[in-house]
Formats: sequence, C-alpha cells, structure tokens
Amino acid sequence: MVSGAGSNMAALLEASTDPAYGAAVVAVGADREGTEGIARAERAGFATFVTPFSKFADRAEWNAELAERIGAYEPDLVVSAGFMRLLGPEVLNRYTVINIHPALLPAFPGAHAVRDALAYGVKITGATVHIVDEGVDTGPVIDQVAVRVEPGDDVASLHARIKTVEREMLVDVVGRLAREGWTLRDRDVRLGSGPASTHE
Ligand code: GAR
Repeated sequence: MVSGAGSNMAALLEASTDPAYGAAVVAVGADREGTEGIARAERAGFATFVTPFSKFADRAEWNAELAERIGAYEPDLVVSAGFMRLLGPEVLNRYTVINIHPALLPAFPGAHAVRDALAYGVKITGATVHIVDEGVDTGPVIDQVAVRVEPGDDVASLHARIKTVEREMLVDVVGRLAREGWTLRDRDVRLGSGPASTHE
C-alpha cells in the first residue's frame, strides 16, 4: 500500500522477482489517485488498485472497502510502504499489516517523523518496521536500523539517507517473514495464518 513516490514499494517489487526471495507482490494499492507509486507498479506490470479516501463518507466505510479490495488478491501480508492513512479494524482484523516508519519508534511517531527528529535535535534517528495496530505507529517492533544525523542535515537530506536504509530493511524483513516467520513479544508471526495479534 502506497500514498506517494513508492520507492520502498519499488524495492519490494524488484526483490520479489527473484523466486528465492520467498515473497511475491500480488498487487499494489493506494488511497488516492495519481500517485507515482501506482504508476511505477503499473510500469513494472503489477496489478494495482486505488481506494480513494476522499470518496468515502467516513473512515469505517473506506476501511471496509479497502479490506474488500485487498481481499481480492488474498495476500498473506499487507505492507504499508509510505501509506499515510490510519487503518481500522476492518482491515487489521483480517490481515497482518506491517509498516515502515522513518524514525526509531517509539520516538517520533506520525506523519512528520524526520522533521520532528531534526527539530528535537537528536543525533541518531533511523527507521523501524513494525506490526500495525490501531494506534499511530504503536505496534510491536520487528526491526530497526539507526541513522546518524549529520551536521547541516535538512529534512530532505536526512530523509534520503533514512530511505536508503528503509528499503534494505523492508526487503530483508518481508523476505524473512515469508521464509522463516518472526517471533515478537513471545508470539510467532507466520504468514498465511491470519492477522497478527498485537494484544498482550
Ligand atoms: C518513507 O520514508 C516511509 O517511512 C514514510 O514515508 C516515506 C515513503 O517513501 N512513512 C511514514 O512517514 C509513515 N508514518 P516512499 O513512498 O518513497 O516509499
């Protein structure tokens, strides 16, 4: 699932062309029309769909329709790769969803993580892959990579370095989830076995 440029998604598309990778992308979806992410996926020959948030009366209706659209592809895993909408129970009770976030959670959740980390003045930030629950970037952490803030960094330069490590980590995590599963807080996350429980 994408909302913008889709560089993380594109890294997954490329990785999934190798059968040894263990995971294959079945479709790419977006929450709005006209994203570069969807255009990229179409150019690469992947199935795409758009469920525009703006066309629905409320969040629950949009989530219900999104769950149906996703369901058409019967995925074992949904990857939020620069997908900038909160998902509700309609989606989360049906699928395991992971998200990539450009900060070391639980620091700097939300839509402006890179800006917020810079403004705070941290010297190390990074990227996190986590299971999505109903909170804002609150689900169990699967993996993290640190990125040092360099003198003179602005949001664009820091985000570009974070995105480089995000792509590598996301590709690694999805492949490992597919091939081996993952144990989080003493629970096994196995693909193909329904939504991951994030309740302790
Ligand atoms: C990525 O840096 C991702 O971590 C971030 O949006 C960017 C999408 O880039 N996501 C969030 O901030 C979610 N809170 P991409 O479209 O090129 O993959």
